[in-house]
Amino acid sequence: MDEKAILQRLLKLKQQALPLYSQFHVAAILESESGAYFTGVNIESSSYSLTLCAERVALFKALSEGERRFKRIYIISDAEEPVSPCGACRQVLMDFASEIEVIMFSRDGHQRRAMPLKGLLPVAFTPDSLPSRS
Ligand code: THU
Repeated sequence: MDEKAILQRLLKLKQQALPLYSQFHVAAILESESGAYFTGVNIESSSYSLTLCAERVALFKALSEGERRFKRIYIISDAEEPVSPCGACRQVLMDFASEIEVIMFSRDGHQRRAMPLKGLLPVAFTPDSLPSRS
């Protein structure tokens, strides 16, 4: 899929979000190395802190389908400027998809920002930071 098609898909996908309390819609599409796409939207709980961000929904869907290697993640929200993933999502993405590029769009897609995940979470704690258990 080219980026124009991705953007069209993100705009549609955003309508599936469940931002029941914040009213702030977010959608993400995670692209695997094999060329598969995994979608996610934010899903909010009445117990607010149980909310899941779009990025983690997309990642967990992909992981639960057995996908392990990723290329990039595309993100769109209701914000006028491109928004970048929250700290929690950066950490989980770093755990499972450390090499990805993060591509962020403004709500109408006219503004685009791209950065490697490693640029968004420098000096990260990673699975390699844990002592080996052998
Ligand atoms: N949210 C995301 O889904 N992804 C982000 O990168 C930032 C925040 C969601 C969580 C919550 O449902 C709403 O946006 C407001 O924080």
